[in-house]
Amino acid sequence: MEDYINELKEFLKIPSISTLPEYKNEIEHCAKFVAENLEKIGMSRVEIFKTEGHPVVYSEWLGAPGKPTVLVYGHYDVQPVELWNSPPFEPVIKEGKIFARGATDDKGQLFVHLKSVEAFFKTEGSLPLNIKFLIEGEEEIASESLRVFLKNNTDLLKCDAVLVSDTSLYAAGVPTLTYGLRGLSYFEVEMEGPNRDLHSGSFGGSVANPINILSDVISKLHDKNGRITIPGFYDDVLKLSKKERENFKVLKFSEKEYAKDLGVSELSGEKGFTTLERIWARPTLDCNGIIGGFTGIGAKTIIPSKVTAKISMRLVPSQNSVKIAKQFARYVKKLAPKSVKIKVTELHSGQPGITPIENPANVAAAKAMEKAFGKKTIFVREGGSIPIVTDFSKRLKSPVVLMGLGLDSENLHSPNEHFDLKHFQLGIISSAYFIKEYSEKS
Ligand code: BES
Ligand code: MN
Ligand code: MN
Repeated sequence: MEDYINELKEFLKIPSISTLPEYKNEIEHCAKFVAENLEKIGMSRVEIFKTEGHPVVYSEWLGAPGKPTVLVYGHYDVQPVELWNSPPFEPVIKEGKIFARGATDDKGQLFVHLKSVEAFFKTEGSLPLNIKFLIEGEEEIASESLRVFLKNNTDLLKCDAVLVSDTSLYAAGVPTLTYGLRGLSYFEVEMEGPNRDLHSGSFGGSVANPINILSDVISKLHDKNGRITIPGFYDDVLKLSKKERENFKVLKFSEKEYAKDLGVSELSGEKGFTTLERIWARPTLDCNGIIGGFTGIGAKTIIPSKVTAKISMRLVPSQNSVKIAKQFARYVKKLAPKSVKIKVTELHSGQPGITPIENPANVAAAKAMEKAFGKKTIFVREGGSIPIVTDFSKRLKSPVVLMGLGLDSENLHSPNEHFDLKHFQLGIISSAYFIKEYSEKS
């Protein structure tokens, strides 16, 4: 474990931020690190594929003919950093947790599978099944290049099951498999009023203020029950079955503790649904940020010329992100009056997805986690998105196992991200048991 943790530290030192162009060299450095580690652990083929965007690392060991093939997917890219208590790319361990950007999302979780494979080679000299790794650098920006790579290399990536660790445990120490992910549709909405900022005394009252208009439009996107007003938006939403609602209830989620942890005195959301249902199985729409007008210190009296909002929707099965994008753009344009020019640009998207709980890969994974954690595995859905997952199901026609090892409380995408090293170790053991368990599938 000591060696594994030291290697993880080296991995975490690389600032592989995918969305910022000035980190391009670091991204390439990180792809190389992953490739070198795959070579070191004993994989027989390792290749870095260039793409239009960031490189894809592919590796395989196919020394078990007649046995199933597992494709491990993960991402080496990370989110940008904010204000941290300690430098985000200088990993430190405190109370059994490793703190660094990417610790839980996704370097730490991904590294689990490299280390379990390494352990097999070291102790048994081989694996009981065939394994492929597909590790990308664009997950945090919606996996555009990987989608193309997948389309052009379906034979290379052929497998019986995909294994992903990039989600969360329901609670610390509770073995968890995820069977549903939300999708995403992300937009920039720009409104332009007068052709320059104006004195709000000389001109105020005579022309539309784009910030006022945009606020009005945003407020119209929900009704008083917290439902999204875009026509047709809910048409394809799969209804929660009675059984699923009951399964969620069994999890004994405490809305009170949840509110307390987040520092809010009341939770809020779509009427008629519990918090878990709202997060896991209902679509949402949120404004992520607004840029516009005077934001400096003090006061400046203006009618701003322009404003931009970043607005995204989380989608659920069986909504389609292409259809939703059209509905959104049409509706927002309809809501805007002629007094402003409006531009609606899609930034990225990902389809929602669901994998059947009963498929043999999930059954093997549930057993494996149960053995490692010493508790019964539970099945949950997830509010976040991993855009490429539905493409895996569609192109490779293989079930996807979401063996998450992080915690929602580990500050992914936030300051002071960390990963519990206990889960790192239990993850390695789960991964090893899975390889054993699934090799006996047929
Ligand atoms: N690992 C996350 C997905 C996730 C989020 C799992 C929360 C468990 C809990 C993934 O890296 C992620 O952040 N996805 C993005 C996708 C987007 C940028 C296209 C997301 O959900 O915002
Ligand atoms: Mn991730
Ligand atoms: Mn992420």
